[in-house]
Amino acid sequence: MSQQQTVFRFPTRNAFEDLATFQEDIPTPASHEVLIKVRAISINSRDTQVATSNYPFYIKDNVIPGSDAAGDIVEVGDAVRGFAKGDRVVVSFDNTRLYGPANDVISGQGGGVDGVMAQYIARSASAVVKIPAGSPQSYSELASLVCTGVTAWNSLYGNNPLIAGQSVLVQGTGGTSMTALVLAKAAGATTIVTSSSDEKLKVVKELFNPDYCINYTKTPDWASEAVKLTGGKGVDHILEIGGVGTIEQSIAAIAQGGVISIIGYLAKYDPARVPNVLLLALGKEAVLRGIQIGPKCMLDDLVTLVSRQKLRFQIEKEYAFTRDDIVAAYNDLASGKHIGKICITVE
Ligand SMILES: NC(=O)c1ccc[n+]([C@@H]2O[C@H](COP(=O)([O-])OP(=O)(O)OC[C@H]3O[C@@H](n4cnc5c(N)ncnc54)[C@H](OP(=O)(O)O)[C@@H]3O)[C@@H](O)[C@H]2O)c1
Repeated sequence: MSQQQTVFRFPTRNAFEDLATFQEDIPTPASHEVLIKVRAISINSRDTQVATSNYPFYIKDNVIPGSDAAGDIVEVGDAVRGFAKGDRVVVSFDNTRLYGPANDVISGQGGGVDGVMAQYIARSASAVVKIPAGSPQSYSELASLVCTGVTAWNSLYGNNPLIAGQSVLVQGTGGTSMTALVLAKAAGATTIVTSSSDEKLKVVKELFNPDYCINYTKTPDWASEAVKLTGGKGVDHILEIGGVGTIEQSIAAIAQGGVISIIGYLAKYDPARVPNVLLLALGKEAVLRGIQIGPKCMLDDLVTLVSRQKLRFQIEKEYAFTRDDIVAAYNDLASGKHIGKICITVE
């Protein structure tokens, strides 16, 4: 094996094109670590924010980007038990967060600490999850479980767990929402997808057959529609992707006592017209719960379900592990034309 590998870093973070290629040593795993040959990396909205210094949390200098990797173990530290060469694995978003809330917001891969945009990564075995034999998902699908997957899982099961027969509304057709849709359907929920695009909703209908679709551009008061679709009750679980610009509609759509998972901040809003979220939430007895991805134990549970149920996820496009292709993948994600995930495959 060559001792050098290709690694990508952001020496400056003003544009996606700042991504630079380096040849660096392949790390030697410490006794409690495994060395992973990365096979696929999934790109998140967060990665585009990190690249342009728009991520609202700390980013280390000269960071290796990327939080989501799936690959194969090629070397095992001498104190590691339970892993072997050849195991297919994924790595938890925050290697230090095994359970419970985050200790801080700086330990996420590809932000506060170096990420996974490399051919090889060494990681503590305690942050690594083995994929059960026979799981049908591709490396790209598996990588996609790490950030948006655990975020969706945490939203549905991290507080008041989703139960069969309840309803789930996901905003938009991006990575977090499409993963949550698959999980909600697997749980027997009534599912509602909103999108800016009828074309996207048509594709989502064909791929995943959600119960209902609403175009939030054509129907700006999508909350009233969602309440109607749930027989007047309102929605039990909403994944809030828009943020301040959509929270008023989410609270209007939520059932009395329902859970709104506060995840994204993509919607435009007028600072002069910020809703009185506290009063609105009070009126609905709603749980508004901030989500920071989730701990490794949630990735364990997610992998178990996804493997046993052989759930499949939408990968819109796979790019190659070259600087130009990765920049193109970032641009593709930022354009918002995708449904589900955009990934990089690594030779
Ligand atoms: N807190 C966390 O732990 C966490 C974890 C993951 C992601 N996030 C955040 O969640 C957001 C989504 O991330 P992602 O990786 O899933 O993004 P993504 O794959 O890029 O998906 C973005 C999608 O959001 C939809 N969208 C945009 N504006 C919207 C609006 N006003 N109302 C409803 N939907 C809207 C669009 O869907 P349509 O084109 O179909 O309308 C768009 O395609 C980002 O803000 C990201 O930073 C947070």
